[in-house]
Order: sequence, then structure tokens, then C-alpha cells
Amino acid sequence: MYDNIVLIGFMGSGKTTIGKSLARQLCKDFKDVDSVIEKEQGASINDIFANKGEEHFRSLEQKCINELTQNTGQVIATGGGLPIHSAISEKSFVVYIDADFDVILERLPRKEKDKRPLLQDEARARELFEQRISTYRELAHFSVDANQKVSTFIHVIFDHLLGQRIK
Ligand code: S3P
Repeated sequence: MYDNIVLIGFMGSGKTTIGKSLARQLCKDFKDVDSVIEKEQGASINDIFANKGEEHFRSLEQKCINELTQNTGQVIATGGGLPIHSAISEKSFVVYIDADFDVILERLPRKEKDKRPLLQDEARARELFEQRISTYRELAHFSVDANQKVSTFIHVIFDHLLGQRIK
């Protein structure tokens, strides 16, 4: 029996949108790690990176996911770097939102891109993407091809989750 559903995947792959919708359909609480951190710190992700640095942000992420996974019955959207830098409770059912780098870049509005410090240098972001893919795949209990509109694949995740034992 798993405690929570945890969505992982690269920046801008749609974890927040998908998480909100899944939580609604499954009657679970929705939590977004980045939003929880921003609220607790009273600062945007950009400001945390700029003023306190990435390492500090990573420690906030680890603390946040540890605290969130003390509870059960939630859909949790993580930041793209969380599963790379932090451990996720083994009692989580992990879903990888698997979208190609070019698809992500194409579909992400300018405003959303600007909120992500590690997406500013495209070549560096592509490198990060390549480095992270294998970890995302290893951690996932289920991966979904997310190279289409969310509305066309969300039911695939939903159907798969219905067959799992999740609190
Ligand atoms: C990051 C992803 C972001 C956010 C931060 C760092 C990353 O979240 O946590 O900018 O290292 O991939 P999203 O995946 O929601 O963009």
C-alpha cells in the first residue's frame, strides 16, 4: 500500500497541471513542492536561487518532501531537480511525466520559462535533461508519454492509478 502519488519529470513537463487534475479526479489533496516552499519562504524560486543559492534551495526541497510525505492520500508535484537531489519516501507511488526536451520548450509560455532559473541557458538545460532522464526512469513505478496535450494522456495515468493500492 502506497501513501501518496508523487509526480516527477523535467521542468515544464506539466506536473502541476496534471497533479491538480488527478487529485481532483481521485478526491485527494494536491501539493506542489515549489509552491509550498515559496509560501513558507515568502520568496519566489528565482529569488531563492538568486539570494541563497541552489544548494540552499535543495535543502529546502528535501525538508519539504520529507514533511509532506509524513501525510497520506495526496498527489504531490515535485520540482524537476527534486528526485535528483533528494530522497523520496519509498511509500510513494512515483509517476514520471515523460516529455521530450524540445516539446517542453515549445509548449512552455515565456512567462513560465522566466520563473525557472535553470531553464535560462538552453544548452545547459538540455544537458541537465539528458543527465536526469535515467534517474527519472529508474525511480518511476509508472511512466507516461507526455508528448501530447495533457487532456489526451491524463486518463492513461488515471486508469493506471485505479489499479494500484494507494491510500
Ligand atoms: C528545478 C525545477 C523547478 C524548480 C526549480 C529547479 C529543477 O520546478 O524546482 O526552478 O532543478 O529542475 P519545475 O519542475 O516545476 O519547473
